[in-house]
This record gives sequence, structure tokens and C-alpha cells, in this order.
Amino acid sequence: MNKREGISRRATLRGAMLVAISSIPTKFSKQAADAATTNVIKLSKLPVGGTYSFTTVKQGIPAILFRTKAGVFAYSMICTHQGCTVAYNKSAKKLQCPCHGAQFDPLKGAMPIKGPAETPLASIKVAIKGAWVVES
Ligand code: FES
Repeated sequence: MNKREGISRRATLRGAMLVAISSIPTKFSKQAADAATTNVIKLSKLPVGGTYSFTTVKQGIPAILFRTKAGVFAYSMICTHQGCTVAYNKSAKKLQCPCHGAQFDPLKGAMPIKGPAETPLASIKVAIKGAWVVES
């Protein structure tokens, strides 16, 4: 190996190391960011029978999370009639639209139980992951 080959080899190795080192933090920081941004609420903050309104990270839409004995589920709060934002009436246990009066049953797949809406609210995928409810 002459002096020129040694320098070239060192430069190649240095370049490869820089690429390897620079990719590691990016990969880990992206995973950490993904995990952090999909967290909805700590499970301990949502009792069985409780609800929690949030904005989805993936779609940026208002949503409501329910926790029952069976687990967690969530729906978009955008009415399927003309797009108003529904609200949860806890005493009636219904999602109600203030614009034209549609009602949805969250315990039956958010099916419309009163018109004019004819289709259920969109389901938002959530799951329990460790101590958190996350968008999945
Ligand atoms: S927009 Fe909800 S009932 Fe019309």
C-alpha cells in the first residue's frame, strides 16, 4: 500500500463512518417522534366509562375516544351529513350533531339513530400500548 492508497482508504472509511453515525440518530429520533406523536392519553387518565376528545395526528380531525370494559375505540366527530362537529351527550350516551339533529350511537359502531345522517361516523383506529392509548 502506498501513501496515496492509504489516504484514499482512510477517506472512504471516514465517509462510511459519517454516513453510519448520521443515520443512527435520525432513525432513533424518528421512532421516538412517531411514538410520542401517536399517544392520545395515558390509560390511567381515562376511566372505564370515560371519554376523551382529541385531534388525530394522522388526519388532523376532531375525534372522541371511549373506554369501556371491552377496551377502547374512537370515532371522528365530523358528522357524515354535512360535516358539522358532533358533541357527546353523556346523559343520553349519544353523539349529537348541532346542525340538523343527527344522532349516533357510539356503543353500536356510531350508527346513525336519528337522521338526516345515513352513515356512521368514521372509526378512528386506536389501541392500548403499554400505559398509553395510541392511534394505531
Ligand atoms: S351536518 Fe350533522 S346533521 Fe347535518
